[in-house]
Amino acid sequence: MAEDLNIPAGINRTEQYESLIPQLRSIITGETDFVANTGNLMAGLHSAFGFHWVGCYFVKNDQLVLGPFQGPVACTRIALGKGVCGTSWKEAHTIIVPNVDVFPGHISCSSLSKSEIVVPIFNIENNVIGVLDVDSSELNDFDQTDQKYLEEIASIISQLAHL
Ligand code: SME
Repeated sequence: MAEDLNIPAGINRTEQYESLIPQLRSIITGETDFVANTGNLMAGLHSAFGFHWVGCYFVKNDQLVLGPFQGPVACTRIALGKGVCGTSWKEAHTIIVPNVDVFPGHISCSSLSKSEIVVPIFNIENNVIGVLDVDSSELNDFDQTDQKYLEEIASIISQLAHL
């Protein structure tokens, strides 16, 4: 049985990720089920930081379809190039949105989301197979530190998809 995460109090965000990611790797070790593992990754990321919403969307045919997530109910399908998620998919790079109200075409699933980061998930052919989306109730809550570590988590998800 998995234990709760252990993230020390009073550490900065880099230290939080450095503490969290090995624990996430440990939780998924020995389990091959993609949904179970991705669900636990989202739960760990959500509980470690208290982000408003954390989840994955996966490419199915010509849309992103909602996958495992933690937080309020969210929109189920997003088209290529739409919103932050569809733009990250189309452009195949991470997008940091300091203020969602000024991102053209932002898809608002919750009025409490103020800033957002979306990281593409790649397969071994370097095609985008999904995105990792994190929303915060604080303005300007994400920077290159989050980008670095969330891209590492996206890479873990990518590896899980190949099991
Ligand atoms: N805001 C996203 C949609 C997904 S929700 O935030 C969970 C977007 O603009 O693509």
